[in-house]
Amino acid sequence: MAVIPVELAGRGYDVRVAGGLLADIAREAAPFLRKPHACIVADANARAHWGTAVARSFAAAGIEPRWYDIAPGEGSKSWDSLARLTDWLLAQGVERGDHVFALGGGVVGDLTGFACAILKRGCGFVQLPTTLLAQVDSSVGGKTAINTAAGKNLVGAFHQPALVLADLDSLATLPARELRAGYAEVLKYGVLGDAQFFDWLAENGAAVLALEADAVEHAVATSVAAKARIVAEDERETSGARALLNLGHTFGHALEAETGFSDRLLHGEGVALGMVLAARYSARRGALTLDEAERVTRAVEAAGLPSEISALGLECDGARLTAHMLHDKKMDAGTLPFILLRGIGEAHLARDVDLADVAAFLDGQLQAH
Ligand code: GLY
Repeated sequence: MAVIPVELAGRGYDVRVAGGLLADIAREAAPFLRKPHACIVADANARAHWGTAVARSFAAAGIEPRWYDIAPGEGSKSWDSLARLTDWLLAQGVERGDHVFALGGGVVGDLTGFACAILKRGCGFVQLPTTLLAQVDSSVGGKTAINTAAGKNLVGAFHQPALVLADLDSLATLPARELRAGYAEVLKYGVLGDAQFFDWLAENGAAVLALEADAVEHAVATSVAAKARIVAEDERETSGARALLNLGHTFGHALEAETGFSDRLLHGEGVALGMVLAARYSARRGALTLDEAERVTRAVEAAGLPSEISALGLECDGARLTAHMLHDKKMDAGTLPFILLRGIGEAHLARDVDLADVAAFLDGQLQAH
């Protein structure tokens, strides 16, 4: 098992990465259980796969599981779902010192985390991420949010979990496309800050995607350790360090918006394309060699992720894509910071990017290949 501490004064916690954690949840989460029942907010798919094992572990410890089901999909990150969930948690008598369990992917973690941030001005919660994307990204770092008519994740709070149990066994039940999409976020840690990990993934990415035990534990633990370091340095994304985690997200956001945040392009697929575009745009600015940009493209392709926006069949131009970027929550004082590359493993924040130039670059990419 890998145990990665997230070092935050007064709010530090561990991320435990291993197989078998859910089946042994009552022992793993024992310090966070102080009543003879546990409230578990679960994605219906995650509950279908893991509900029995979790319930059995709690029951053996004399704890009654109380389930609250969330419909899978971004639609559940709504005001309405938040209201219903908080009412349910209040009806269960959840107190500040209690811990609510969030079992599932990013949707469940974000919604439950936000409900716990505001419930009685803040109660505890434990993240039980069951997707690769949630294990390496959304369950760690305390960003919680819902979506509103104005956009995704625009209403939320920083609220750190008390524990994250990333059970690697849960990855075996993921559809292959979702696993690959999560892998894009793994690759991101190599591209943004760890050339050695990028090289390791070039050698071992196939083993990770095949869920070979040692490879997948190393990939998840290395990703979580990178995120933990960045979150400890810049918890609230004020110094620029945490913003580096948005590599690929600004281009990706535009593509996700253009495809209606739908199954046409999963978030991780948007991030994969976004990383390729960030690398190519960095090369256009002369900061990165074309060879390095090509290595990023090859790494994305090797994972079976999309790398060419011309293949998406979009009926739009670059200006329409940059217009989507202006609705991104990363806008800061009227400018849009971009995460660009000086090398593989050397991401930086650029505040001097001219959106007209980005639009011209995207026009070329939409037509290329
Ligand atoms: N997913 C980006 C962050 O947690 O900051």
